[in-house]
Amino acid sequence: MSATKGIGIIGTGNIFGQYFDTIAKLDWADLLAVADADQARAEAVGQERGVPATSIDGLLADPAIDLVINLTPPAAHVEVDRRIIAAGKHVQSEKPLALSLEEGKALLAEAGQAGVQVGCAPDTFLGTGLQTTIKTIQDGRIGTPFAAAALWGGPGPEPWHPNPQFFYLPGGGPILDMGPYYVTALVAHLGPVKSVLARNLASDRQRVVGSGPLKGTPLKVETPTYAAAILEHYSGALSTVTLSFETWASGNQLLEIYGTAGTLQLPDPNWFSLKGRIFEAEGPGEWVELEDAAGFVDSGRGIGAVELLRAVDVGRTPRTSGLLALHVAEILFAINTAQPGDGPIAMTTKPEVPAVVPLGADVATV
Ligand SMILES: NC(=O)c1ccc[n+]([C@@H]2O[C@H](COP(=O)([O-])OP(=O)(O)OC[C@H]3O[C@@H](n4cnc5c(N)ncnc54)[C@H](O)[C@@H]3O)[C@@H](O)[C@H]2O)c1
Repeated sequence: MSATKGIGIIGTGNIFGQYFDTIAKLDWADLLAVADADQARAEAVGQERGVPATSIDGLLADPAIDLVINLTPPAAHVEVDRRIIAAGKHVQSEKPLALSLEEGKALLAEAGQAGVQVGCAPDTFLGTGLQTTIKTIQDGRIGTPFAAAALWGGPGPEPWHPNPQFFYLPGGGPILDMGPYYVTALVAHLGPVKSVLARNLASDRQRVVGSGPLKGTPLKVETPTYAAAILEHYSGALSTVTLSFETWASGNQLLEIYGTAGTLQLPDPNWFSLKGRIFEAEGPGEWVELEDAAGFVDSGRGIGAVELLRAVDVGRTPRTSGLLALHVAEILFAINTAQPGDGPIAMTTKPEVPAVVPLGADVATV
């Protein structure tokens, strides 16, 4: 890795601390500045963490900053990304990449013209948990994978998030908020998706903020809060996906891949280092926990951003590339906007599946 890299972060809210912790571990990259539309918040967070807080324009004008991480709410992602691109800096955005396919495609075209990279969360699939299950498939241990089932449901984030309105505006909902973890995992394991058949709904339950200074405030709901979908992968595999903010309790959360010679139970894709399990047709007749066999060890949110810096340095596609995020977003938009009577919706994007991360690789040299 050449000279020390400079990183800036725009958006110093709830998720900021996890990114801060990842960057703080590196000796070849420094967090040089933070900024936020709420200047007072940026200053408070900057002071707490010992990082200079500046205006957004000031951060973008800093020639020492190579990459800017965008941790704003979904509706601001594209607007903020475009300012970062116009400043000639690489971008790593929180998910989703954009609020529409057209917007996402235009964003990547703009980055291409400016000669910068746009990467996007989630990066959880680069941890040992999901990298190990990907490698297990590639090693042939479940034979030919032909199907997957993903089911995630909760009551919605308003019991714990202090400012949850954005989860119910366009760009939020279970599909665009939690869907990226599940669909990225499915694409990383089974390859890109050819078509999507889906239905969605929203109940008439009145939601209110459940904690913090805004407790009791009613929330507007402008996005579906439940969806069921079938994804047809180019490989021929079928994934069934259920995503819900309507579920008070569920006996099962599920992310499994079925193969001709066994079943893989993937760990929760919102985390980096949990372990998956395998049931092999010719095995001991019970689930066996997988030993770590691939992935960045003990990694956290932000690993995708620093992997992008490394990829730029050596001239290859980042593993959390904009093209992968655009494909995942196209699948999620199809699920989110499907109307009664719609048949399968053909996908127009088809990314390369990122290479497996060797076990314990150093992000500075991978
Ligand atoms: N909170 C989580 O657990 C979590 C987990 C994973 C991913 N994310 C994602 O991270 C992003 C941020 O989530 P959060 O929970 O930190 O939100 P948050 O509301 O706590 O923080 C967002 C921050 O962005 C600032 N902001 C809003 N619009 C802006 C703009 N146009 N320019 C600059 N700053 C702006 C706000 O002032 C706020 O400080 C979202 O995309 C979310 O999906 C959140």
